[in-house]
Amino acid sequence: MLRRSPTRRDLFRLAVAAPIVLAGCGGRAVENSANTSAQGSAGRLLPSQAPLPQPFLRALPLPPVLKPVRSDAGTDYYEITQKRGTARILDDLDTEVWGYDGVFPGPTIVSRSGRRTVVQHTNELPVPVVVHLHGGRVAADQDGYPTDYLHPVSGRVADSHGQGLNGAQGSRDYVYEIDQPAATLWYHDHRMDFTGPQVYRGLAGFHLVTDEEEEALGLPSGERDVPLMIVDRSFAADGSFRYPSVDPSLLGTPGVTAEYMSGVLGDCVLVNGAPWPVLEVAPARYRFRILNASNARRFRLRLDSGLDDLDGGAQFVQIGSDQGLLAAPVPLDRLDVAQGERFDVVVDFSAHADGDLVTMVNERGEGTTAQVMRFVVTGTTEDVRDGSRLPDRLADPEVLSEADVVATREFTFRRGGAEAHGMSLWTVNGEAFDPERVLAQVRMGTVERWTVVSQNNEHPFHVHLGAFQVLGTTGAAAGRADGGWKDTVNLDNGGRAELLVRFDGHRGAAVLHCHNLEHEDMMMMANFEVV
Ligand code: C2O
Ligand code: CU
Repeated sequence: MLRRSPTRRDLFRLAVAAPIVLAGCGGRAVENSANTSAQGSAGRLLPSQAPLPQPFLRALPLPPVLKPVRSDAGTDYYEITQKRGTARILDDLDTEVWGYDGVFPGPTIVSRSGRRTVVQHTNELPVPVVVHLHGGRVAADQDGYPTDYLHPVSGRVADSHGQGLNGAQGSRDYVYEIDQPAATLWYHDHRMDFTGPQVYRGLAGFHLVTDEEEEALGLPSGERDVPLMIVDRSFAADGSFRYPSVDPSLLGTPGVTAEYMSGVLGDCVLVNGAPWPVLEVAPARYRFRILNASNARRFRLRLDSGLDDLDGGAQFVQIGSDQGLLAAPVPLDRLDVAQGERFDVVVDFSAHADGDLVTMVNERGEGTTAQVMRFVVTGTTEDVRDGSRLPDRLADPEVLSEADVVATREFTFRRGGAEAHGMSLWTVNGEAFDPERVLAQVRMGTVERWTVVSQNNEHPFHVHLGAFQVLGTTGAAAGRADGGWKDTVNLDNGGRAELLVRFDGHRGAAVLHCHNLEHEDMMMMANFEVV
């Protein structure tokens, strides 16, 4: 069921009215500017006004791993306070972040499959927040539905919707059953209309799931198992994150100024919060859990050893996808990583000599965004022990069969079909998000075939509560790297994906949406219900 409130319709009406204010410059111009793409991503580059640091000087930070405040037979309990903090990202200026425990990225939570995880969130920020465990198969009321607010400790906020007083205040628990295999999940803000700016200010962190099967494989672990949260950001002259919110207080009119309606692209690449950082690596195998947590930017990652590609320089071997391990490792020259997607890879540096530099580049980027981070190989294989393995078989994920399909659906992501004052919105099947409307009812445990079509722009498709397997995609985001169970898929402008979808965890209402956060905030979201 949906969590209804009598004011939801007003909320929707007011929310879609927002772009009117920002449309000011007349319909035609807005129409054109709202379908922009740059650097292979929907969106427009927002240049920094502060000087950016030199690349490859800062050491890669690792987000702190959160310790449970207590554990009992079946459950681990954690506490997180969402608050302001300060980060030193630029050389001479501080940047205010809105972070989980005041840091960006937030602390990493590590859950054991089969054990319940309870996270108590306290909101010391000045705005309502919503926590979504991206990739988690969780109960609908724990999923971070966009209007399921956690209001500030300081008091309930009547936000842009003129009300928004539903939800908890101060603190609330999110209860996750963690009834799913080992995987790289992440958590981030999901507040109605304001997800883009709130994630941009720092509300994102890793949530890893481990299990025995994975541990038995002998994959690189400990300090050779490294999460990499990649984002783009821009900075204002005072060092703050630069973002084109209509109302930077995030309490009034939602949305971004019209020219950024397609997405906000930053010019500074951060990995775990540091600009173009460096990681010293041994000549050994490493596991990297790559997450693109950007609002609008897609990355095409490649490892550049400064050598001829054929001579054995370090390359990506994919071992896991959004929802966990693949059946077998897949070597990939390049990783196309859309917003929200995770790629678990092993990189073997053992062919490298002491002092070799391996640069992770972004083939979709230009100028400052063409580089991501650098690895400096340190030591020789004689003095470094690598006890890890990369087995030929990793897991035995169930493969869904087209023969089991009980229903087919098509979802078209495009601009248009719904509008406010001559300004057309981002829509799913021609409709702007209405928390009251359910687009699809899916029977629990059944397999459906979903065709997702992307028009006017690139639209990464994401579904809550369940997972899917990709039968095929058209366009450049081709099939090979879409293996395994996924919850997010990269779609090019004009692209289409054929998915086999199954929801077998929890009943209830949840959303599917575009993971370009500016599109999502501007209505590219729909409800479905698992019954
Ligand atoms: Cu990562 Cu509904 O989002
Ligand atoms: Cu989109």
